[in-house]
Amino acid sequence: MKKEHAYTNDLEKILDTKPLKQMKGKDFLRTDDVNEEQSYMLFHLAERLKKIHQDHEPLPHLLNQKTVTLFFEKPSTRTRVSFDAGVHLLHGHSLFIDKTITQMGRGEDMQDTALTLSRYTDCIMARVFEHKELETMAKYSDKPIVNGLTNEDHPCQILSDLFTIREHFKRLNNITLMYTGVSDNITDSLLVGCAMLGVNMYVASPKQFPVSQKYLKIAHSYAKKSGSEIRVFNEMPGKEILKNVNVVYTDEWESMHMKLDKKKLFPTLSKFQLNEKLLQKCARGAVGMHCLPALKGEEVSHNVMYAKNSLVWEQARNRMYVQMALLSAILRS
Ligand code: CP
Ligand code: NVA
Repeated sequence: MKKEHAYTNDLEKILDTKPLKQMKGKDFLRTDDVNEEQSYMLFHLAERLKKIHQDHEPLPHLLNQKTVTLFFEKPSTRTRVSFDAGVHLLHGHSLFIDKTITQMGRGEDMQDTALTLSRYTDCIMARVFEHKELETMAKYSDKPIVNGLTNEDHPCQILSDLFTIREHFKRLNNITLMYTGVSDNITDSLLVGCAMLGVNMYVASPKQFPVSQKYLKIAHSYAKKSGSEIRVFNEMPGKEILKNVNVVYTDEWESMHMKLDKKKLFPTLSKFQLNEKLLQKCARGAVGMHCLPALKGEEVSHNVMYAKNSLVWEQARNRMYVQMALLSAILRS
């Protein structure tokens, strides 16, 4: 108990810094809803929480008496369990809600659902299809909303991926990340997050799946300030480009909101597969990343997932610590 008090004081000092104090009660709907300074403070807090947990020391009661709703319109393994376990570890309570078994399944709308849920719980983490639905939820909930993935954005994933990259390389500057595969929500969120924190970002995606101009524009405006280099390719770049790449990141070809003819697209898409051959052409010490779930043999080879230079599993692990830090800042009493 004595130790816990020591940690609590230390962690509270981090939470009492201006950047994190400003997050109190705020929504986290978009990757850039936390700014550069706030991201680094959250990384600092997540690092401490991870260390305490991995040392099997008692974690502080940062979410004491707080209830977090976990609302899902789509399937999930990592988001659901990492939020659930993370809230529990900080002595809060979480409850899982599958939309189909709520009255929304019978036609109640998001406005009334948000008005109701926010009367019972302190925060709603939601995974929905349309980003606009999440915005409606935020509009009518007087409690903070955290985006657990929409068709457009997956900010919790990207915040913790940047934490993982920084943890592995001990820096974010002079790191080049290349996203390869079907350009989608993960790509767009990565563009914003990388550009904001000064990570160079390349996207290699077939011309049938071009990068969103909207997110590219946002990324370019952050890159102007951070110095990050943004490049887009519609074929796999050659060795001269790849030799600068430190992180190769991919995601499933077919997202939960998509329907692709994967058989027909296989010859095109397989040229963008994250595999050993591709990593060998990249910078020395290059690593593979995947937000998961993965379909091995499609966007990623089996071996890359379990290789020494795979960050995939640490990336999954870190979701919990970064989200614990995020909720502690948002729900600070
Ligand atoms: N990466 C991720 O969000 O995984 P889940 O879909 O399993 O939550
Ligand atoms: N792009 C994927 C990410 C899953 C975590 C999807 O939206 O289904």
